Amino acid sequence: MITVKNSAQIAKMRDAGAMLHDVLTQVAAHVQPGVTTKELDHLFQKLTTAHGAIPSCLGYEGFPASLCTSVDSQVVHGIPSPHTVLREGQIISLDGCLLLDGWQADSALTVPVGKVSEEAQRLIDVTRESFFAALEVAKEGNRVSDIGHTVQRYVEARGYSAVRALCGHGIGREMHEDPSVPNYGVPGHGVRLRRGMTICIEPMIAAGDYHVRTLSDGWTVVTSDGKLAAHYEHTVLITEGEPELLTLPGYRKGEER
Ligand code: MF3
Ligand code: CO
Repeated sequence: MITVKNSAQIAKMRDAGAMLHDVLTQVAAHVQPGVTTKELDHLFQKLTTAHGAIPSCLGYEGFPASLCTSVDSQVVHGIPSPHTVLREGQIISLDGCLLLDGWQADSALTVPVGKVSEEAQRLIDVTRESFFAALEVAKEGNRVSDIGHTVQRYVEARGYSAVRALCGHGIGREMHEDPSVPNYGVPGHGVRLRRGMTICIEPMIAAGDYHVRTLSDGWTVVTSDGKLAAHYEHTVLITEGEPELLTLPGYRKGEER
């Protein structure tokens, strides 16, 4: 079921989103060679709980941490570990959710560890850009497949592929609500977007082929060909005009970051 939020509910989601942005920004600033992914997870957990929120990935379908940390060919759902020490030249996606006063926020970004290759930086950049390209069509009256079509076209034109096995999603009181928001497809299909809908748009982009597999830990999704992948996600409020990025407060169209 797709839930449309009223203005009081949207205000709460805005608070949750702003907090998540603040927390993820602080965790991202901590990424550097020598840091373990478990340290990043601890920091995310400490900051969310210090602010009175619940790190909602922790225990979600049994996920064992507060933050998903996915390095290099890991696409999403990487499990933080004290044995995973970040090395210069790697890239890491930080994907976190929090629950504040009954409302969820969900956002992800991919950051370089120290100095990275031009190819790695370009993958990070194109992944983020594909999100903002999709945002252009995320408005009332358009259809959900217009989003995925835009992501797919944007990244394939630049030699990359959009992972198909995982999708964006609606969000609200639950982390995952309807509709499903794929990152590929033909335009003009699926649910019609309406003001008050809140959805997570989250391109997961691979440098090589779009096929993925899950490691034996039951969570970590990696590219089948072992090539790099990147992820970028925001919780988005659909309006009659420009969408609002609940997890990027103050964003105005054209100020892509
Ligand atoms: N943040 C993820 C998403 O975008 C959800 C992670 S589920 C978890 O949907 F269990 F791995 F945390
Ligand atoms: Co999500």
